[in-house]
Amino acid sequence: MTKYGPYDPTLDYAPGPAPTRKGGGVETPSWKPLHMSRRNFLRGVVCSGVVIGGSAYLFSTTTPARSDTRAVERLVRLTVNGRTHSIEVPPNETLAHTIRYRLGLTGTKIGCNQGECGACTVLAGDTTIYSCSTLTHRVREVDITTVEGIAGPDGALHPVQQAFIDEIAPQCGFCTPGQVVTAVALLKKNPKPTIEEARLAMSGNLCRCGAYDHYLRGIMKAAERV
Ligand code: FES
Ligand code: FES
Repeated sequence: MTKYGPYDPTLDYAPGPAPTRKGGGVETPSWKPLHMSRRNFLRGVVCSGVVIGGSAYLFSTTTPARSDTRAVERLVRLTVNGRTHSIEVPPNETLAHTIRYRLGLTGTKIGCNQGECGACTVLAGDTTIYSCSTLTHRVREVDITTVEGIAGPDGALHPVQQAFIDEIAPQCGFCTPGQVVTAVALLKKNPKPTIEEARLAMSGNLCRCGAYDHYLRGIMKAAERV
């Protein structure tokens, strides 16, 4: 039998030759390190949508931060909806968690928590991001807008919000904040989208109630008003 050293979690392992039978038994295959650098590993992650989803899951937090005294807490100045907050955020905390549980902005929803459903969509500058898959420390220099920041300061609804109401787009409403944020971002970049452009732009926002056509009609209606 091959002698093994202690398992080293910092190495990536690839299977060696196929198992060989000796004396009726199956010999455990030897394993050899890939010598894959962290840089190459991350390159693979970025190039593979499937792995992106997995890594988002691995690196995201689904539960409140542990009160582990060894955890490194760091001060972050985070600008959300025009207000700057100074808050202690662990390095591994997601923006969705910070927004909802530290700032109390619960309009942003957490659905899949792994970058697939779009319920957690917020604006980072003018770009939509999945806040469940974004570390808060990564966006400390960026203006964040959540669904609470979409309406005007006087509470007047954004044309997208009004059009979604007019088209009775929200059914259970869970996906609606993400749909609103994505639609607003679309109309900022492309005020007069075709229905196909709108469908493509909204493709990262899933709706379990299946109200896709209602949301699309709402976007087209809002485009006539902005
Ligand atoms: S909760 Fe973030 S993409 Fe689903
Ligand atoms: S309205 Fe229910 S998930 Fe979209």
